[in-house]
Amino acid sequence: MAPVLQAENLTRSFGSIVVADDLSFSVEQGECLGIIGPNGAGKTSVFNILAGVIRPQSGRVLLAGQDVTRQSQFERTRLGVGRTYQVPQPFGQMSAYENVLTATTFGGRRRGRDAADRAYDILTRTGLSARADMLAGSLPLLDRKRLELARAMALEPRLLLLDEIAGGLTEAEVNQLVDLILTLKKELAMVWIEHVTHALSAAADRVLAINAGRKIAEGTPADVMADAAVQEIYMGAIIDAPALD
Ligand SMILES: Nc1ncnc2c1ncn2[C@@H]1O[C@H](COP(=O)(O)OP(=O)(O)O)[C@@H](O)[C@H]1O
Ligand SMILES: [Mg+2]
Repeated sequence: MAPVLQAENLTRSFGSIVVADDLSFSVEQGECLGIIGPNGAGKTSVFNILAGVIRPQSGRVLLAGQDVTRQSQFERTRLGVGRTYQVPQPFGQMSAYENVLTATTFGGRRRGRDAADRAYDILTRTGLSARADMLAGSLPLLDRKRLELARAMALEPRLLLLDEIAGGLTEAEVNQLVDLILTLKKELAMVWIEHVTHALSAAADRVLAINAGRKIAEGTPADVMADAAVQEIYMGAIIDAPALD
C-alpha cells in the first residue's frame, strides 16, 4: 500500500528565500515524522505546500498514492489533510464544544445528532469534556492546544500536520500533550514540526532536519539530534534566536 503522504522533490522559493529545496519524504499510517529546523528554515511553508495553500514550483504531493499537487486547500481537507496552526485559531467567542461542532459539521460533513455526538466524543478523547462549555478564548494554554487538536481531528484526517503545538507549555503539560498525540497517531499519519525536541523524541518515529528548505539529516530522533550538521545549524540558530516564533 502507498504511504499516506509522499512529498517528492518539492521546490519552492519566495524571491531569494528558499523554503523547499528538492525536498522528499514520506509518512506511513500510524507513523509520526518530526520536522526540526531553525526559524525561517521553511517548515511552515512546507506544511502550506502539503495543505495546498501554496504551490511548489516543482515536485509532487501524493496522498495515499494520489497526486494532489494541483488540488486546492479545500479539496485536500476533503481528502483527509488536517492541520493545527502555529498560532491557534479557535473562534474565541464560541465554546470549546461549539468550536468542535463547527468542525464536525462543516469539515467532517456530519449533521444534527451525529455531528453533536462526534464533537462530544472528540472533546472527551482530547481531555476537554469538562471544559466543553467554556469560551475557547478563555481556556488556559494547554486546553487551547487540545482544542486545536480537537478541531483538526473533527475533520477525520488521515494526515495530521502539527505546527509547533508544544510551544509555551510547562514540562508537565508537554508530557500530557505527548500522551494525547501518541494515542491519536495510531489511527493516522502525522507530521509534527516542533522546537521542543524532547517532545518530538517521545513521539516521532523519524525526524527530518531542514535548513533553507534543504534536508540536512533524516533518521531516528536520537541520531538526528546528535548529527553534527544539525547541532551546528539548528542548535546554533536556536541559541542566537531572540524568541521562538
Ligand atoms: N507567502 C510568503 N511570501 C513571502 N515569503 C514568505 C511567505 N511565507 C513564508 N515566507 C518566508 O519564508 C521563510 C520561511 O518561513 P517559514 O516557512 O514560516 O519558516 P519556519 O516555519 O521554518 O520558521 C521566511 O523567511 C518567511 O518570511
Ligand atoms: Mg513556522
